[in-house]
Amino acid sequence: MADSTRKLAFVMVGLPARGKTFIARKIARYLSWLGHRTMVFNVGSYRRERLGSRQHHSFFDPRNDAGQAARRDVALAALDDMLSFLREGGDIAIYDATNNTRERRALVRARCEEAGLEVVFVESICNDPALVEENIRANKARSPDYEGVPEEEAVRDFRMRIAHYESAYEEVGEDEGHFVKIIDVGRTLVLHRIEGYLLARVVHYLLNLHVQPRSVWLTRHGESEFNVLGRIGGDSPLSEAGRGYARTLAGVARERIGPDVVVWTSTLRRTIETAEALGLPTRAWRALDEIDAGVCDGMTYEEIADGMPQEYEARQADKFRYRYPRGESYQDVIQRLEPVIFELERERRPVLVIGHQAVLRALYAYMMDRPPNECPYVSIPLHTILELEPTAYGCDERRIDLPPTPVDPEGFRQGP
Ligand code: F6P
Repeated sequence: MADSTRKLAFVMVGLPARGKTFIARKIARYLSWLGHRTMVFNVGSYRRERLGSRQHHSFFDPRNDAGQAARRDVALAALDDMLSFLREGGDIAIYDATNNTRERRALVRARCEEAGLEVVFVESICNDPALVEENIRANKARSPDYEGVPEEEAVRDFRMRIAHYESAYEEVGEDEGHFVKIIDVGRTLVLHRIEGYLLARVVHYLLNLHVQPRSVWLTRHGESEFNVLGRIGGDSPLSEAGRGYARTLAGVARERIGPDVVVWTSTLRRTIETAEALGLPTRAWRALDEIDAGVCDGMTYEEIADGMPQEYEARQADKFRYRYPRGESYQDVIQRLEPVIFELERERRPVLVIGHQAVLRALYAYMMDRPPNECPYVSIPLHTILELEPTAYGCDERRIDLPPTPVDPEGFRQGP
């Protein structure tokens, strides 16, 4: 039975070019964002570091004894580091390697269980040759393993490497404990002995993943009357400059994103008014409402500093965990944004989120894989669009400042 008090090791399984690293990094990003100390241990990187990146495909042939021994050594070095990470304060680790034989998995599992860890195998199976071919061309042939090698030669060698792994491959069986099998990039999911809240969340998350490239656009609402006054929270309408921004944004969105965009707002006036000029259907999420400043709602930072100095200082001391009396902390905001993240992952069209400072900081931290405690300090000024474009293992960012200039472009104005 899965034990929620035990630390977790996700052990990836699958042939090369089956998206294991993509899945491993996604799981890590999601769990880190939720506040779990999570790290990926990629055996390929250990191999490159210790043995050099250029290895002929024959190195991966299971009949090549020297290659087998060298690969086993680097796999165990990565495993040792993973166990140290978990011993020294990590919560969750992801062991990213092919782990394609029962023997190798039994070894990894035994070491993890000896260290008191719960092991969950995450196996990626892809039976669609077109998808594998696409991944080889898009990622593998350009990986450091093939630096300077002509593409066709790299592709040929990589296919041979896959064939070597295939010759020894054994699928994970029911006698091997907890597992999730992701088949054909999530078209089918098979679960075995997946129990407990956290694992259920991870599986739910995995259900929404896809690999179709598309951008996510984040912008705060146009300047509001409260922004002009330096007051936080509330539900005030847009200022004159804010309405101007709504019009500029509509033009830019038409030009750069096109009509096939999904538009999300919060349930607050300032985001809904900003979206109106777009003339597109929108979805208003309560989960996207601004951080609830509780008893401080409607105050300026100066008023909080003067009238409630202890609260002001407590927030300065730990802005991430500080919870406004009868309100929220950044940590709370992250928890309530989880369904938004699931939808964001599931959506295949570009998404434009018209939100608020704190909420967008939390979404940005997820997209850009920033540690959660950094998120209260991410700069998301008014009248700026952030275009985030997911790449194979990360996300590119472009910022576009648009007129008119708001009274308080940084949106911080003496905030803690
Ligand atoms: O000032 C605008 C605002 O969206 C407030 O409503 C909110 O309380 C604040 O930004 C969040 O920023 P910080 O966490 O830096 O105070």
